Amino acid sequence: MTKDRKVLVVGGGGRCHAIVDALSRSPQVAKIWCAPGNAGIAALAECVPVKDTDVAGLLKFAQEQGIDLTVVGPEAALSVGIVDAFRAAGLKIFGHTRAATRIESSKEFAKVLMDKYGIPTAGYRSFDDFREALDYVSARSFPAVLKYDGLAAGKGVVIAADAAEAEAALRSMLLDESFGKGRVVVEDYLTGPEFSFMAFVDGERVYPMPLSQDHKRAFDGDKGPNTGGMGAYTGLPFITEEDRAFAQTQILEAAAKAMCAEGCPLSGVLYGGLMKTPDGIKVIEFNARFGDPETEVVLPLLESDIYEVFSAVAEGRPAGTLRWRKAVTLGVVLASKGYPGQYDKGAEILGVEKVGAKVYHMGTKREGDRLLTAGGRVMMVVAEGKDIRAAREKVYAELEKVSCEALFWRRDIAHWALDGRLLDGKAVSTSIKDALRERVGKLEIKYGRKPSLAVIIVGSNPASQVYVRNKVKTAIYVGMNSRLITMAEDVSEEALLKMIDTLNLDPEVDGILVQLPLPPQIDEARVIDAIVREKDVDGFHPLNVANLWLGRPCTVPCTPKGILRLIDESGIDLAGKTAVVVGRSNIVGKPVAKLLLDRNATVVMAHSRTKDLKSVTLQADVLVVAVGRKNVVTGDMVKPGAVVIDVGVNRDEDGKLCGDVDFVGARLRAAAITPVPGGVGPMTIAMLMENTVESFLARMEEK
Ligand code: AMP
Ligand code: GLY
Repeated sequence: MTKDRKVLVVGGGGRCHAIVDALSRSPQVAKIWCAPGNAGIAALAECVPVKDTDVAGLLKFAQEQGIDLTVVGPEAALSVGIVDAFRAAGLKIFGHTRAATRIESSKEFAKVLMDKYGIPTAGYRSFDDFREALDYVSARSFPAVLKYDGLAAGKGVVIAADAAEAEAALRSMLLDESFGKGRVVVEDYLTGPEFSFMAFVDGERVYPMPLSQDHKRAFDGDKGPNTGGMGAYTGLPFITEEDRAFAQTQILEAAAKAMCAEGCPLSGVLYGGLMKTPDGIKVIEFNARFGDPETEVVLPLLESDIYEVFSAVAEGRPAGTLRWRKAVTLGVVLASKGYPGQYDKGAEILGVEKVGAKVYHMGTKREGDRLLTAGGRVMMVVAEGKDIRAAREKVYAELEKVSCEALFWRRDIAHWALDGRLLDGKAVSTSIKDALRERVGKLEIKYGRKPSLAVIIVGSNPASQVYVRNKVKTAIYVGMNSRLITMAEDVSEEALLKMIDTLNLDPEVDGILVQLPLPPQIDEARVIDAIVREKDVDGFHPLNVANLWLGRPCTVPCTPKGILRLIDESGIDLAGKTAVVVGRSNIVGKPVAKLLLDRNATVVMAHSRTKDLKSVTLQADVLVVAVGRKNVVTGDMVKPGAVVIDVGVNRDEDGKLCGDVDFVGARLRAAAITPVPGGVGPMTIAMLMENTVESFLARMEEK
């Protein structure tokens, strides 16, 4: 094999940098030109100042230089017919014809194709009339997915949350023609994780690449506006081999066959933007080119000679078996602050030469020996590792070496793969409350009376007010009678005890709860003691806790009961697990420990001052933290794969709600974790209602 081939790459972003990088590893390639290229590509190729859509200019350049193979990056060049022009002139080029590029450039073409050949995708209808489109969308449920039918630089998709948003989008697409004259495709809204599946395709021959996942939103937690992609990684744990095989045969190979049957065979990269929905894998979109930023994480894994693959596809001959490295890659995009909106250019970037990972340039410029920002997405740092965690640690460590005030990047790339799932107490409590509501309705018919809850609040502590209001609201939702008793901040202990006594004796009251904390003139222990045990629906009474430990009938305290129910409903098996409970109060820590013991877990109790708490918490398969102070447990104290139940609800310096556990750090290591709020809190309230219903039943049955 001689190293004498000349290659022209058309394009200039990070994707092209990765293509040029892969070509530069080929034993056949002597020289690479890139039009227009960028400051990073310039290290590997000679950049020529010709626009990627200037077909005549590119053709002339290729002929003059005696280029052996041209490779096309961006879709814009394909859809203006660069491949058709090069082929007509007898030049070898990798990329689809204009007719084949319609699989990306026309949403409707792609939809009709998928329909006709049974390729799974969202149901849809297309419109060119504004009124008809609006009537159709308004009659359906939201969110509605509206797609402009044509190339719109990634801005042609609107997920409208309500009728007003849908109308505005349809108006802009169909009446104002913001993207040009065209149609709109209205699709069913699908849910599930998205992923990207790219393949080299030559007619019916499909050569799959490793799967990857993009991160389209600007900020951590998939918040903020849509961008061109803020990071990507390979090695997706939530896609099984079965899923992958299905997507290869039923989607990519099926599309390749369909395009042949339609008389416009593919000869380039087919990109499937796919979603793993509850009904299986479906196509969100097809692209007729390499994805960006997916290419930057996928191509570094290719061991085969990419020049050979490109040539084989361009010439329509078999490319053999492609070899990929077993490792995984993860890349983070550094973007200009303000992107995808307004941003400044020209800021100096320091330290790039120290980065011990691949750096692909997206929008940079060199001025002398200074490297400057020159675009929205500026560069992407890509590291390889034996697994995602290792690759992620490496990338973020290397990123520390880059300094530039004008840049920002996401800190959570690969969160879909790595972060603990959320234990959604809110959703679980809703289904419990709905079941209770049905039960209460039946009890009222049977006994001629509703269960009834009396809630006492002393003073005007805003947090207590919120809790109390929530409890009363929930009681009403469940269909119980509720009575709210408000007492002044300076009420005497005597007056409060007297009120409790009245409620104790009232046959119409089944549950009594006093919102804690109480003002200093009142002894909380005495108040808890004063509520008769049968009406203590919080389950705080010391005798309740004692009976629980002795295995006697009792009211199980509502927070511990809620924690256990949340664990059960989330499908977590406790038998044989090591559980660590941090915090040993009588109302949470101790009863939780007992409930966990009853489930055959090995239980260790600790508290916030336990010596070397970290070595204790690191043993925990299940970690329950109920101390009431921020950051008692930090991320490094969590055993990888643990279930973390954070009972604390605190406010940080900025007044934001936070738990006892550092949520962001812990989530990186936990298999499952409760959010704050929305974790244990809603479960506590649901259990309070359940306890009230049980107290009601006990009283009715006694009669
Ligand atoms: P597209 O430009 O077609 O990739 O769409 C942009 C984004 O919109 C996708 O990455 C999805 O997150 C979202 N999207 C597109 N179509 C749907 C759909 N039918 N259901 C739900 N989300 C969608
Ligand atoms: N990463 C999405 C795309 O290339 O279209």
